[in-house]
Amino acid sequence: MLELTSPICVAGLSFRNRIVMPPMVRMSPLMPPEVVGVDGSVTPAVVEHYRLRAAAGTSLIIVEATCVDPTGRAWCNGLNLTDDTHIEGMARIAEAISAEGCVPGIQLVHGGPQCDPAACGGVTFGPSRVAPSKSAQRPRAVTPDEIAAITDRFTAAARRSVAAGYRLLDVHGAHGYLLDSFLSPVRNTRDDEYGGTPENRRRFMCDVVRRMAMEAGDAALTACRISLFNKLADGFTPADLLDLAAALVQSGAQVIDLSTDGALKPLPGSDQTLGQALRAHVRAPVILAGELQDPQNAQAALAGGHADFVAVGRGMLWDAAWASTAASSVTPSQD
Ligand SMILES: Cc1cc2nc3c(=O)[nH]c(=O)nc-3n(C[C@H](O)[C@H](O)[C@H](O)COP(=O)(O)O)c2cc1C
Repeated sequence: MLELTSPICVAGLSFRNRIVMPPMVRMSPLMPPEVVGVDGSVTPAVVEHYRLRAAAGTSLIIVEATCVDPTGRAWCNGLNLTDDTHIEGMARIAEAISAEGCVPGIQLVHGGPQCDPAACGGVTFGPSRVAPSKSAQRPRAVTPDEIAAITDRFTAAARRSVAAGYRLLDVHGAHGYLLDSFLSPVRNTRDDEYGGTPENRRRFMCDVVRRMAMEAGDAALTACRISLFNKLADGFTPADLLDLAAALVQSGAQVIDLSTDGALKPLPGSDQTLGQALRAHVRAPVILAGELQDPQNAQAALAGGHADFVAVGRGMLWDAAWASTAASSVTPSQD
């Protein structure tokens, strides 16, 4: 039976167990101010934040959403790989994680309509002029040329990530940021090749995955983070998410990183969870996040076939040693 401590190899890359730290930007009041930082610099405190979680026995750390383009800076204190000068700092984080026997991964993002205007130069980008929330400004609709340029920026950031030592590149395709906002039939009202049908709405994300996978080659796995809960009210369905995942795998994604608001909740009208449905639908390992901080639930998610890896976010912020405590405390699941 699959256990938290079971090793796994994905496309030649070995993971010592199934425990993942998902990407988490450092803006939580749970974190000391020196870790939060102010301008996205890679300080010793930031490196130590990640090293501690690797040293606890986590098998994969996906470093927080890191911006690929100055127009997509979502947070003033967010990490950046927008030019080559950022490689050295980002490499110090990857080296610290690797030195503890953990695989260093990184999430790449364009913040799109959810950028903090103070961080991204004042103008936010989106698929259409639809604000992401009542309090946010209306974004400017990106042109096809800008979409091509942003795809190039993701590809360049993939090259920099590999140069910095990251072995898994996670495209941020969730939570309403630029690529995800294209999926929503409410936020995306375009009538060009990026709007209208589900195939058109996922074209941008699939193109980014394809280009990044080509850039990474055998040097790093390509993953894509996707979510459903933030788009259900927009009419984006579980079936749409499964189709999206299949298209992403066809485009070159080797891992699907599924973000949920409750990993063990069954889908409406079904006995299955989204993780179970996804694993039945795509031939790629699934990382699953969402309320799995109780080690017994994390173990049950693996044993019950909901996931190949379990990601614990807030649990690892509260307790840097979550992985070691969990691995020694779980009893085999009955599922
Ligand atoms: C402080 C904080 C920062 C986060 N930053 C990111 C991020 O950079 N990228 C991302 O995809 N998700 C982000 N998330 C979501 C987490 O990766 C995770 O999916 C979510 O917290 C659910 O897992 P949990 O219930 O174990 O906390 C963040 C969550 C928190 C609490």
